[in-house]
Amino acid sequence: MSMPAAFDSKLSPDECLASGEYPLTRRDLVEIAAMIYADAGIYLNESKASLVYSRLSKHIRNIGLKGFREYCQLVSSPAGAAERRDMLSHLTTNFTRFFRENHHFEHLKSDVLPELLARAKNGGRVRIWSAACSDGQEPYSIALTVLSMLPNAADYDFRILATDIDPKILALARAGAYDATALETVSPAMRKQWFTETSVNGRQKWQVDDRVKKLITFNELNLMAQWPFKGQFDVIFCRNVVIYFDEPTQMKIWSRFAGMLNPKGHLYIGHSERVSGDAKSVFDNIGITTYRYTGKPHGGRS
Ligand SMILES: C[S@@+](CC[C@H](N)C(=O)[O-])C[C@H]1O[C@@H](n2cnc3c(N)ncnc32)[C@H](O)[C@@H]1O
Repeated sequence: MSMPAAFDSKLSPDECLASGEYPLTRRDLVEIAAMIYADAGIYLNESKASLVYSRLSKHIRNIGLKGFREYCQLVSSPAGAAERRDMLSHLTTNFTRFFRENHHFEHLKSDVLPELLARAKNGGRVRIWSAACSDGQEPYSIALTVLSMLPNAADYDFRILATDIDPKILALARAGAYDATALETVSPAMRKQWFTETSVNGRQKWQVDDRVKKLITFNELNLMAQWPFKGQFDVIFCRNVVIYFDEPTQMKIWSRFAGMLNPKGHLYIGHSERVSGDAKSVFDNIGITTYRYTGKPHGGRS
């Protein structure tokens, strides 16, 4: 099992790095970090010990195990394959918001969509990818932006692909039912036009309209894996996920995005992320965390 570089193998594996109900030793953390790095590219080091502890300890109790040692043995064995997938859901951060970093949606609306919608209306194909879409608020925000300009966009060959590694969060995305607090960043006019108030298991929710859902396909996809796409994208949103990857992994991902974009295609990334490595020379940085692919040759289709 490969170990992320930041772990110092000379330190005692039995040292307790976090504790409460059970101890989390360096050995446990190294093993968990190696598994999550191999499975999802997510990079954890010792500074994340209390995060790992708080995300997993209750679950370990719920599934009746005695502590992290037993948990590590389970998730690294063939019998623990389902638990290992579940570990990903516990360790990934799903925070998202409708119209998060709203300047991206404003830019999409003013500078990108006019040409793409004209192309769609002329019978052309338009594809937008929300990579790492969490519970769907990002792709729904893209769809709402599109629909604010062309309410019947779904009648054209205009589609948004929304992917995430976590099947549990994708189930929420497909359901498209949100608490009132999530809707705070959606304008009252959009709320009225594209959501209905409903009750899910006795809780008040706002349900996204089917006309919005029609624009989006949700699929499970690990960014570390092969990407199964046939055509190119016009826009990629990949925001607030590569921050969890190490630098070499980030550099590969940027090149792979260049390989997936049409020339002049746009890439929107998270507020604390920057395109780095070879891909820097094939993207023009045209605004805050906003990039345009130059169309120059690059290193990486998936
Ligand atoms: C913080 S959320 C970002 C959501 C949205 N893009 C936004 O900016 O609001 C990060 C998402 O990345 C997903 N994720 C983590 N590792 C991934 C991987 N290797 N491939 C695909 N998705 C991944 C997580 O499941 C999580 O839903």
